[in-house]
Amino acid sequence: NTRVTVRDIVKMKGKEKIAMVTAYDYTTAKLVDQAGIDIILVGDSVGMVVHGLDTTIPVTMDMMLLHVSSVARTRPRALVVGDMPFLSYETSIEDAVRHAGLLMKAGADAVKLEGGSELSDVVKALVRAGIPVMGHIGLTPQRSFLIGGYRKRGVSEREREKILEDARELERAGVFSMVIEYTAADVADEVTREVGVPTICIGSGPFCDGQVLVIHDLLGLTENPPPFAKAYADLRSIIVNAVKEYVREVKNGVFPEEKHYFYSKKQ
Ligand code: KIV
Ligand code: NA
Repeated sequence: NTRVTVRDIVKMKGKEKIAMVTAYDYTTAKLVDQAGIDIILVGDSVGMVVHGLDTTIPVTMDMMLLHVSSVARTRPRALVVGDMPFLSYETSIEDAVRHAGLLMKAGADAVKLEGGSELSDVVKALVRAGIPVMGHIGLTPQRSFLIGGYRKRGVSEREREKILEDARELERAGVFSMVIEYTAADVADEVTREVGVPTICIGSGPFCDGQVLVIHDLLGLTENPPPFAKAYADLRSIIVNAVKEYVREVKNGVFPEEKHYFYSKKQ
């Protein structure tokens, strides 16, 4: 059970596709690791799928630290990447290093942050501090207010060039990998061929070095999943049916059964 390292991930480019999924808690992390996932992402999507927030903007460092530590406690084989939440890395390089350091101390093996060339100083500072960084380009949900919502990226020539430039700058700054979100497949393909580090895509086509999904989407738990997600199970109906059955058995006195309780004396 040797752990997956950042170096292992880099070496997978061009040889083996990288499978990444989010997990935010101990039980789920154990299960996805058992299934053989390469990277567990403790994404700031936790704010939406676990905490019911409308966007990832209100997600705090404290929330991320709580979830990263519960995932890390499983001591998974997979690499654990922790998302840096909104405003934990944009204010200054010092803030970025301190906050990334806290995620590492909570058990992350690497951090992920959203943005491109404008963040190359931050990426360099983190790498200098010994913190592996995963980039995140294309659709960057923490900037959705600036971009004008969860829009497809890389369709116009201007956006295509910006995404390519961001990818090159991130590689130069020292990222070990980068997520490309909701970007035209041909642009993601171009980035993948252009950079030496693995690209991990979501909603950006099949030409990347890996794929990532939010676990709630993968398991069919999300009520309104994004169009690029695939549900590999229908856990919503499994859960509702199981709980319905429980309600029925409690109402009818079927549960608990003899094996579920005890008496103080022999009956
Ligand atoms: O927070 C998240 O789940 C993510 C993935 C969608 C890449 O950043
Ligand atoms: Na995220």
